[in-house]
Amino acid sequence: EILVQQDGRDYSTFRLPARLETVYLCQHLDDLRQVPLMPKPRVQGEGSNTIFIGDALPPLCRFVAASKVLSWLDDDRALLHVEAGHNWHKLVCWTVEQGLWGLENLALIPGSVGAAPVQNIGAYGVELADRCRYIDFFHWESQQLQRLNASDCAFAYRDSVFKHQLAGQGVIVAVGLELTKSPRRVLSYQGLDQLFANCSVQQVLDAVVAIRQSKLPDPAELANCGSFFKNPLLPDKVAQALQLRYPSMPLFSQGNGQSKLSAAWLIDQAGFKGKKLGDIGCYNRQPLVLVNHGSGTAEQLLQLIEAIQLQVQARFGVALEPEVQLVGKLNHQTNVPL
Ligand code: EPU
Repeated sequence: EILVQQDGRDYSTFRLPARLETVYLCQHLDDLRQVPLMPKPRVQGEGSNTIFIGDALPPLCRFVAASKVLSWLDDDRALLHVEAGHNWHKLVCWTVEQGLWGLENLALIPGSVGAAPVQNIGAYGVELADRCRYIDFFHWESQQLQRLNASDCAFAYRDSVFKHQLAGQGVIVAVGLELTKSPRRVLSYQGLDQLFANCSVQQVLDAVVAIRQSKLPDPAELANCGSFFKNPLLPDKVAQALQLRYPSMPLFSQGNGQSKLSAAWLIDQAGFKGKKLGDIGCYNRQPLVLVNHGSGTAEQLLQLIEAIQLQVQARFGVALEPEVQLVGKLNHQTNVPL
């Protein structure tokens, strides 16, 4: 199905005004084979990690098929093959209803299954990479489907091969996930550690949902794209030196010579929590989340991003890198901070 002249607000949960000339909705591989490749289409799911800036936007392509098939690898391990168009949270809820472990910590993350591997979604101690067996990827150039093993996807913190070598090269059409009947509780995150050692998968899901609802705005009620910046990774020594100067600064050692700082804390300390520039704001319960109160503009957003980056750099010497994808650019603007 080919849609023309679409309102960009329906394709990004940040809901900035933008006009999309063309949107291709594809159900089958054969639909993908019909998509014109000039100009190169941009593939996305539900738009929960994408913000449109300006009007020079590429055509958009969505793979909307959403079936799922569960099979058994042995008595305990199940393989769940899911097509990219399936909503992520609905999938998590379905697996929990089946009594399967693996995805419960990833409850309530907005967006589609197909988008999940791109930024290797993660929350409360679990990443997609921990549960992923394979990704089925359709290449524009060869028009062929390829199955990538998880080990070939270069999964890392909010990163994967789909942001690098395979960026713009094709479409994720399905994801293979490994789940178990036997419990694999990950309760290390503060808030989940109060659960009992023998809690059910449903209890973990409920706890994750409660934590998220207590600090993250629902995009259906207040436009946002989740965490706007990545948590910065620094060499252990640099991070420890910073913590000596700022003893209250949270620091999470990654065990590989790198430590993760809290971008939320840095932004909070820099004084941006709850601040607004026009209708674009820094959310008051989680300053890492930027929100659009209704009639925010791309100019306001870009100004706020820059102000936050400059302040955090000036005060802590730390660079904040956006995690959300900014697509397009303003006429007078040459440098989109990506
Ligand atoms: N903090 C403050 N002020 C605040 C809020 C938080 O200083 O107002 C500090 C606290 O010290 C807190 C720390 O920030 O301990 C971390 O906050 P939180 O636990 O909410 O997690 P986060 O690091 O800000 C990351 C992910 C989230 C994910 C949570 C839970 C990134 C970019 N974000 O946020 O993912 O849900 O951990 O695992 O890694 C997303 O990617 O869109 C997302 C929401």
